[in-house]
Amino acid sequence: MDFKLEVARLLAKAADLPLEDALSTVEIPANKTMGDFAFPCFRLAKVFRKAPPMIAQEIVEKMEKADFIEEIQVVGAYVNFFMQKGVYTQQILSKVLEEKESYGKSNIGHGKTIVIDYSSPNIAKPFHVGHLRSTVIGNAIYKIHEELGYHCVGINHLGDWGTQFGKLIVAYRNWGSKDAVELNGIQELMRIYVKFHDEAEKNPLLDDEARLWFVKMQEGDEEALTLWKWFYDISIKEFERVYDMLGVKFDAYTGESFYNDKMAPVVEELRDKNILKESEGAMIVDLEDKNMPPCLIIRKDGGTLYATRDITAALYRKKTYDFDKCIILTALDQNLHFAQFFEVIHKMGYDWYKDLIHVPFGLVSLDSGKLSTRHGNVVLMEDLLHQAIGETRKIIEEKNPTLENKELVSEQVGIGAIIFNDLYNGRIKDVVFSWERMLNFDGETGPYVQYTHARACSILKRAGDISLENISFDLITDEASIDICKLLEAYPEKIMDAANKLEPSVVTRHLVAIAQAFNKFYHDNPILSSEDDVRKARLAIVVAVKTVMKEGLRLLGIDAPEQM
Ligand code: ARG
Repeated sequence: MDFKLEVARLLAKAADLPLEDALSTVEIPANKTMGDFAFPCFRLAKVFRKAPPMIAQEIVEKMEKADFIEEIQVVGAYVNFFMQKGVYTQQILSKVLEEKESYGKSNIGHGKTIVIDYSSPNIAKPFHVGHLRSTVIGNAIYKIHEELGYHCVGINHLGDWGTQFGKLIVAYRNWGSKDAVELNGIQELMRIYVKFHDEAEKNPLLDDEARLWFVKMQEGDEEALTLWKWFYDISIKEFERVYDMLGVKFDAYTGESFYNDKMAPVVEELRDKNILKESEGAMIVDLEDKNMPPCLIIRKDGGTLYATRDITAALYRKKTYDFDKCIILTALDQNLHFAQFFEVIHKMGYDWYKDLIHVPFGLVSLDSGKLSTRHGNVVLMEDLLHQAIGETRKIIEEKNPTLENKELVSEQVGIGAIIFNDLYNGRIKDVVFSWERMLNFDGETGPYVQYTHARACSILKRAGDISLENISFDLITDEASIDICKLLEAYPEKIMDAANKLEPSVVTRHLVAIAQAFNKFYHDNPILSSEDDVRKARLAIVVAVKTVMKEGLRLLGIDAPEQM
């Protein structure tokens, strides 16, 4: 039952108004003493030619009785409605209990495809914390859309092609060794890459040599490609370790190199459509009419660029997946690149350019020098995750030394804390890492929500076998329980809202609100020690909250341990 709608129906009938008008006038008062719903009569004054308080009075007199309403009050120009609490709690709780994990799911996305391009780190470079955001936000957006019935395609658009690989090959041939690369992986590749830059400053011939090697790669030279593939495999192995820890998966690893043989026809198409122009030996698409610098398509030396591959990728994805939306996650500083390449697609005459969406996010900053930076000044994601697990382990040893599975739980909580911290604020805001804050079990944190979930699990475990049949919901009328019901009621809308805004923080924040309401409920109401019917009804609340919290955390990519 939709209470607001039912109230509007009664009002429409009593005041002889169209239902839509009544519905759009009904308010939810900020102050609970003004009821669950309120109907202001100011706007009716003109129609009825009476003072609003008098109209309010008359409406109430004419209104039919309804058993879901406990009380109606006229206060000045307002008609205030108080719902029958038992009817309300029964409606919400029985729905959650009946639908279980499916509560909040919908099929509004049925038949629609969303391509999500996220994480997308660069090969032969360390997986640093900047890519954490793309990974975590993209993963949550994926799961949230899946929950709404969309068909999601998760793509890792690896940065695995470009002139930098020519440099890496030269570096390896001059200063690398097989053993060192095998032993130290990306760290070693990074070291020789940095060395290349130092040396090239003294000897510019190295740059020419690097360009030559990249040309060889493009031409399919075996030696060049074997080395490139080796660097690729080493990098992927390291990236996958991080993805495993984060519990993140992709449907396709189609990085930039995937588009090598697909770019030529696209360049041809640009030429045929007369949008390609020569400029100082390079080929560009002019974007002056959009007040943007030109989009570079082919370099003077014949090389293709990041944008060339992105334009090609967009066309490929449209053809392959026929997406309704293609979402790409990167830091804010790539805004211009996306605006430019979307406009090129527009100029090509594809009206689906509107369905390409760049989803930017803020930077990651580190709280003082506390994070381990044993590999120079980049903070590696893997180190960060291990450190989170270690810090969590210390807290658990202190709080719950006899816990079973400490190792697993430290992982779930430590990694969960990092993900939660990242998803707590609007994505455009910068994220600050502070162990103290993000691991605070009492703050607005991942561990707090997980701990609340574990508390609910433990209550249920102690309750033993319980039946959820024939619950006397009318016994639940206290404020904390009603607050929980309101939050549970709003949960499905929050998922929708998060999807519409591409903003997982909507879900994150709602989970904190549920956890806070649950802790208040737990504090105010005896559960296991209360009388039969009350006990049963309160346990039903615990089940409902536990179910929604676990599912909500899952949407964010966070585990919900039963004990911690
Ligand atoms: N590899 C890029 C980077 O690290 C991100 C790629 C994002 N996806 C895309 N289609 N451009 O900045």
